[in-house]
Amino acid sequence: MLTAEEIMHKYLKFFEGKGHAIIESKPVIPENDPTVLFTTAGMHPLVPFLLGQPHPAGKRLANVQKCLRTDDIDEVGDASHHTFFLMLGNWSLGDYFKKEAIEMSWEFLTGKEWLGIPKDRIAVTCFAGDADAPRDDESARVWESLGVPKERIYFKGKKDNWWGPAGLTGPCGPDTEMFYYTGVKERDCDQDGCGPGCHCGLWVEVWNDVFMEYNKTKDGRFERLSQKNVDTGMGLERTAAVMQGAKSDYETELFLPVMEWIRSKSAKYDEKSARIIADHLRAAVFVLADDRGVVPSNVEHGYILRRLIRRAIRHARTCGISGSICGEIAEIYIRIYGDMWPELAKNREFVLRELWLEEKRFAETLERGMREFERIAAHCGGTISGKDAFLLYQSYGFPIEITEELARERGKGVDKHGFEEELARHQEISREGTKHKFASGLADFSEKTVRLHTATHLLQAALRKVLGESVQQKGSNITPERLRFDFTYGQKMTPEQIRQVEDLVNGWIRQGISVRRKEETIEEAREEGALAFFAHKYGEKVSVYEIPGASKEVCTGPHVSNTSEIGHFKIVKEEAVSAGVRRIKAVVEQG
Ligand code: SER
Repeated sequence: MLTAEEIMHKYLKFFEGKGHAIIESKPVIPENDPTVLFTTAGMHPLVPFLLGQPHPAGKRLANVQKCLRTDDIDEVGDASHHTFFLMLGNWSLGDYFKKEAIEMSWEFLTGKEWLGIPKDRIAVTCFAGDADAPRDDESARVWESLGVPKERIYFKGKKDNWWGPAGLTGPCGPDTEMFYYTGVKERDCDQDGCGPGCHCGLWVEVWNDVFMEYNKTKDGRFERLSQKNVDTGMGLERTAAVMQGAKSDYETELFLPVMEWIRSKSAKYDEKSARIIADHLRAAVFVLADDRGVVPSNVEHGYILRRLIRRAIRHARTCGISGSICGEIAEIYIRIYGDMWPELAKNREFVLRELWLEEKRFAETLERGMREFERIAAHCGGTISGKDAFLLYQSYGFPIEITEELARERGKGVDKHGFEEELARHQEISREGTKHKFASGLADFSEKTVRLHTATHLLQAALRKVLGESVQQKGSNITPERLRFDFTYGQKMTPEQIRQVEDLVNGWIRQGISVRRKEETIEEAREEGALAFFAHKYGEKVSVYEIPGASKEVCTGPHVSNTSEIGHFKIVKEEAVSAGVRRIKAVVEQG
């Protein structure tokens, strides 16, 4: 029985033997590509080379890549779909093409010294052809030449047998997919249409060879690339399950210790929920371990991360787990994967802290939110209104996808369009109110952001006391969860300096100082020594917020009326943004 690690080593050894250079895995959060949020496939970091730029390691490459996709998120819970997964891949950059690629795949799958899968358990699919590209008879002929019987070769359209581009434009092409016959049906299906690609679980896709000879352009055309490439991807989790005869990926050593932990803590264990927890938290651990500044939030990467963590926590409740889950599960994953992926151990503390903070935030509102949801669901008829979905989002931190999922479980729908309108309307109100604020200023006026906003003024004052008057604000961004403050300073702050800043801020908070506001011209404000680093953004008259004895700043507010309302201030991160600019992330906790 092969372990995942052995499969990985075999794969890399096999392709090394065929003249491939083994390249490193890139981060899950792409380094230089704004078109997608996450690295969705091994080919993704290779796009420039698929388009023709020479790769320094040559024309034959292979690796194992950390990937994250959310398109299959609703499938997670079955035996073999994941958000985060590890993908074994090999590439030809204008070198070999269909014949050699397919022959190598076949040899690795069925060769005795490699995976040794019985040939009669394998079926394949090829592209059926359409207006953009012809039917792929060439691949089918190669499969036949290797002994795959005609009735095991299926032809399908773009939906099934075309891969890419990874973003909106870029390299793509027809593919041929390899399926393994599991012999086990997980779900009912239409008997007549059943075969490779059917969702019943009888056939599981293990490998995909993409023949990337097209480039999708901005206007939706498929033009020929200057070189014919091969891009293949084999999911490590699925392959491990196949090689171990496991009923699902979750029974392999890649998940098993986590699944056992979940079972041991569950008062009413539910397999599907347990799989969702295991999948989503593994994804969250790897995203955080990238340490690229992504933390749970309401936008972009941070929102996906938030959804993954919150959905896991919500499913933990379904299993009847009462305590917290994220920390212990993360520790298990760090143990399982830490040797292969040293960033997990290296960033352990950051990963654990961010998970802990997010779990704490959501746990605070989850029970009340669930009660509110039940109340809404009982009275809404068939559809939860946009307003109610927004209330659950705004006041109880329910990502819309969680509300939708809960509604589905009760046979109800959600007016998502109405929700989006509410969200946009709310953001519009916030934007109106913040028009004159800092470039990346306040996102809303909730009690939490207001508290953090006043804390930001105290933080700036404390930094100037501890690090010197040369400290200048470079940017500020506040979400209900945390403040982020960028400022000029040449070195990393010492733990002692961080503590001094926290102590100063908490001292002012404890003193219960009243916050004063007055209107004056920018010149008057400056004369009085108010900080106004963004003066060019203000009109004639400006508001000055003064916290006597601590801070005086030009700002449009809003602020708390007394510092005692802020809560306990804590710096959670201090890091470099660029040369000479540091970034602090801090939170306030109500005592
Ligand atoms: N890019 C293809 C896939 O993700 C092959 O790696 O399936």
